[in-house]
Amino acid sequence: MKMKSNLSQMIPYKPGVLKEGALKLSSNENRLGPSPKAIEAILHGINNVNIYPDGTCRILREALAEKLGYKRENIIVGNGSDELMTLIAATYVSHGDNAITAVSTFSEYTFATILFSGEIQKAEMTEGTFDPAKILALINSNTKIIYFCNPNNPTGTYINHNDLDDMLKKIPHDILFVLDEAYADYSDALDFPDSKQLLEKYPNLMILRTFSKIYGLAGLRVGYGIAREEVLEEILVTKQPFNVNTPAQIGATAALSDDDFYRRSREMNSIGKRFIYDELDRLELKYYESQANFVCLYIGMDSKVLFQQMMDQGITIRPLTSFGLEQWIRVTVGTEEDNRLFIRILENTLK
Ligand SMILES: Cc1ncc(COP(=O)(O)O)c(C=O)c1O
Repeated sequence: MKMKSNLSQMIPYKPGVLKEGALKLSSNENRLGPSPKAIEAILHGINNVNIYPDGTCRILREALAEKLGYKRENIIVGNGSDELMTLIAATYVSHGDNAITAVSTFSEYTFATILFSGEIQKAEMTEGTFDPAKILALINSNTKIIYFCNPNNPTGTYINHNDLDDMLKKIPHDILFVLDEAYADYSDALDFPDSKQLLEKYPNLMILRTFSKIYGLAGLRVGYGIAREEVLEEILVTKQPFNVNTPAQIGATAALSDDDFYRRSREMNSIGKRFIYDELDRLELKYYESQANFVCLYIGMDSKVLFQQMMDQGITIRPLTSFGLEQWIRVTVGTEEDNRLFIRILENTLK
């Protein structure tokens, strides 16, 4: 057997090594746990799993449409937003095509593009932020998709509404612009993009969001995309019939109305970020101000070494070597106790 040539440059995803009992602050999960309303609804609905799930996710799509002010035809649900990235590439990318993203960003954009034999072009960034001019400079006649992460994982930086609008104006409408807003729920920037308004203006825009972060449902695997109906009709061709399981649909629908949990998650995050910034200032460590539920900081040493040393003391953070940031780490903002432990172990290790 001979593996397809496009796949030979890929390696299977390796989940991070976890020490048993260690505090996991490496994957930007919600340290408040899952939305209690979601759990209650799942327990109530679990007896129906002898029946295939609703392949159209009708109830969840209707709930999302009502909450966000769209039609349900504008919404697609995936087995995590990761799945949607793959479906998007399956729809638009083939051999000879390219997709554009930035150097230090979420790895799934690259994975999805290469999986369908496309080439990924990575634009340099400015101060940890996507740089519109550098992205635009990479566009050519073979460009099919631009993946734009806002706020960006792993830096937590963002681009504002006007800059995004200016950029979208310059992009040909036959290129799909995928705006990944996995962490947008955490943003408190007043000029953070109003992506709904942009979707009304740009037919080639697709927004991705997830239930994995602020709703605390990473293990259920539910993400969603918002786009014009014509775009979703094309992407739907590539979707498996029953891609989102029944507990996931039930849990996500209930989580959507869990305003108390949503508010508490945001509040814990902003208090936690403030504490971490103050402590990093005290330790004189550089960091990016984050619009997400994590902080990216410069540690001035090999981040893999620091990762190992911190894990030995009971905490896992994310070394950013694979993002091209060898001396940076990313830490999930947790509870007050988590954040204090992180700072204590970090300080200890850097001493
Ligand atoms: C930027 C970004 N997009 C998407 C995802 C994946 O979301 P999901 O769990 O819905 O697949 C992540 C997960 O960490 C992420 O960081």
